[in-house]
Amino acid sequence: MQRALVFGATGGIGQAICADLAQAGWSLYVHCSQNWQKAYTMAEGMSQKYPDQDFIPIKLDFLAKNDELKKFVNNLLPVNAVVFAQGITDYNFVSSQNMAKIDDILHINLLTPIKLTGLLEPHLIKNDYSRIVYLGSVYGGSGSAMEAVYSSSKSGLERFAQAYSREVASANLTVNVVAPGAVNTAMNSVLAPEAMEEVRGEIPVGRLAEGNDISYWVRTLLDVHSGYLTGQTIYVSGGWLI
Ligand SMILES: NC(=O)c1ccc[n+]([C@@H]2O[C@H](COP(=O)([O-])OP(=O)(O)OC[C@H]3O[C@@H](n4cnc5c(N)ncnc54)[C@H](OP(=O)(O)O)[C@@H]3O)[C@@H](O)[C@H]2O)c1
Repeated sequence: MQRALVFGATGGIGQAICADLAQAGWSLYVHCSQNWQKAYTMAEGMSQKYPDQDFIPIKLDFLAKNDELKKFVNNLLPVNAVVFAQGITDYNFVSSQNMAKIDDILHINLLTPIKLTGLLEPHLIKNDYSRIVYLGSVYGGSGSAMEAVYSSSKSGLERFAQAYSREVASANLTVNVVAPGAVNTAMNSVLAPEAMEEVRGEIPVGRLAEGNDISYWVRTLLDVHSGYLTGQTIYVSGGWLI
């Protein structure tokens, strides 16, 4: 059985990724940080729709200490793929950014994914082939004012994925980043409608992405036939910025 662990499954993009992977025959760990009810309901719904696959809700705060991360990984059933679709941002000038928030962004977006990757590697490389996909951002390739810390976390993920992919390529573990532009999810709900309209006007395709514009590429990278693409960042931005 092919099982994927989807971190951030309860987010706007994570939900689309779970729906696509479930339809493609994957069993899933449906991860949340706080939103247990959502993870549970998603897993229940997919279990009813695809009764031959497993859907397991699971909770982990990426601000957890190292020992908790180790315990989390040691308790997992075998997985063939891991998708890191969790993430946070904070809109502020660096000079007025809350320092604890800087720690949180870097932990949730970059440091804990790196640590979990190292912990998961011995499990993943037992398989004939395995996959890791991180959700990056166009701001990882072209930094954004007011989101400098977020931009640095996403840029760090891109270089990490490129470097790490070279360590594990011979074990048939591919490691890639799918980097969206602006997606119609809760992450952008703090922005005023006029600001979102301005962004939309800058996107050559003429609209924000929906979750399934992004999940298509994640599902494709998890496919058995995607074994020769590794260490790459794929920008899925409707032609915006990159
Ligand atoms: N939306 C966009 O326009 C956009 C653009 C480019 C890149 N991205 C990237 O795409 C990914 C998904 O974004 P989204 O729009 O789907 O975000 P979202 O709807 O805000 O969902 C965020 C997800 O991250 C999880 N999360 C939050 N805090 C966490 C923590 N402390 N530990 C572990 N998980 C935590 C949330 O879990 P709970 O539900 O349990 O809180 C939720 O599953 C992120 O990496 C984001 O940076 C998004």
